[in-house]
Amino acid sequence: MISSSKPISVAVFASGRGSNLEAILTNIGQGKLDARIMVVISNLSSAGALEIARQHKIPAIHLSQKQFPTEAEFTETMLTTLKSFQIELIVLAGYLKKMPIKIIQTYKHRIINIHPALLPSFGGAGLYGHYVHEAVLSYGCKVSGATVHLVDEEYDSGAPILQKCVPVLSDDTPEILAARVLQVEHEILPRAIQLFAEHRIIVQNRQVRINESKSNNTSAT
Ligand code: GRF
Repeated sequence: MISSSKPISVAVFASGRGSNLEAILTNIGQGKLDARIMVVISNLSSAGALEIARQHKIPAIHLSQKQFPTEAEFTETMLTTLKSFQIELIVLAGYLKKMPIKIIQTYKHRIINIHPALLPSFGGAGLYGHYVHEAVLSYGCKVSGATVHLVDEEYDSGAPILQKCVPVLSDDTPEILAARVLQVEHEILPRAIQLFAEHRIIVQNRQVRINESKSNNTSAT
């Protein structure tokens, strides 16, 4: 699966424990993912994801709006950091802050997010973590799942890249359902990154098309 070309340079943003980061690193270690995580950035200094990065000798940066007098300075620092690592793809893996508009514009179609539900259901502001699973259960859904999608200016509104379902079982709690969904997050997030590494992602209007075969060109438009 791995090509001889240079691995795609990835920045991972995370606010939490970092199990998706760990899944990406595992896939890289197993030779299934042609990527290199150049930097991990978190808005929380206590995020487990930063600790995982340090253990893997990956630069781990605590970067929060609160450290800056203005949003513009915060955004500039983020941009400079991303450029210094020559980032090609930004992966939001449990990052609970909105990306600044300037970053979204600079990395158009090169920022992806993992969401623990089947978008466009159960997404948007306030629907994160256990709130998502609680909402799925109280609605009475029979399936849930995970979505990897492009990031645009709104929460959870960019085009889906990959989605995978899981069943909702009658005695599920939010914790049990979250664990089942997390397993598929760990499958589809690395797979989506590999699609970028193989230049197979094509964006047309608001839809993501996946090329059957690998290309040597950057194909996101
Ligand atoms: C995941 O469920 C992800 O979908 C959501 O936040 C959680 C992050 O988990 N956006 P982890 O930090 O990767 O373990």
